Amino acid sequence: MRPEAATSATAVVGGGAARTPGEATGQAVGNGVAQAVGDGVARAVGVVALVPMTAAHIEAVMWHEAGMFGPEAWSANAYREELADRRHRAYVAAVDAAGTLLGWAGMRVVGDEAEICTVGTIPAARRRGIARALVRWLLDEAGKRRVRVLFLEVRVDNDAARALYASEGFAEVGRRRGYYENGRVDAMVMCRVFGKGRRAR
Ligand SMILES: CC(C)(COP(=O)(O)OP(=O)(O)OC[C@H]1O[C@@H](n2cnc3c(N)ncnc32)[C@H](O)[C@@H]1OP(=O)(O)O)[C@@H](O)C(=O)NCCC(=O)NCCS
Repeated sequence: MRPEAATSATAVVGGGAARTPGEATGQAVGNGVAQAVGDGVARAVGVVALVPMTAAHIEAVMWHEAGMFGPEAWSANAYREELADRRHRAYVAAVDAAGTLLGWAGMRVVGDEAEICTVGTIPAARRRGIARALVRWLLDEAGKRRVRVLFLEVRVDNDAARALYASEGFAEVGRRRGYYENGRVDAMVMCRVFGKGRRAR
């Protein structure tokens, strides 16, 4: 994922009163445990909500982008283009009760194939299950769109991301030699195949 540069997103993640910008309804996910919240208002302190990522999030994304993605960082324009293509893209943002951006993820969908383009959690919010919730949202959205196979590329030296994807059912299917940093770092290609006609989860 990455080298080049919304649908409804309504899950709630984490462990407050999180009325999110946009339409926050759906389920709460705390450390991987789903929990219904009815009217969409998360009740436990520290809850994070998943909402549709929009152009309004780009400014906050840009505060973190270079630090999180280094040489693979995207420009604000790249994000604008991604978010504008609602037919072939699905983007979701994780926000706290105040609407502060904590993470985001997106994928490209073409026919019955899709590719995860980005997943990230801001440093201060890591190891709280946010990226896992974002990936699970993408899996769910892929299922709704009848995706048969979901690909991603990840730096071979990104142990955290590799562990996340492996634990969400992605398997290595190949390598792209020198894909990152002007040939210095390989990409691992991973994919998750869904049963025919079945939803992802
Ligand atoms: C990789 C990244 C997205 C993980 O975000 P996160 O919200 O902290 O991840 P989660 O809390 O949801 O963790 C999910 C799983 O990922 C793995 N993981 C996350 N951080 C890890 C770390 N530092 N070391 C090892 N495994 C890690 C674990 O398997 C974890 O499950 P566990 O908590 O049950 O052990 C985050 O570190 C990040 O944004 N990194 C910079 C950008 C990036 O590399 N994005 C991915 C490639 S595009």
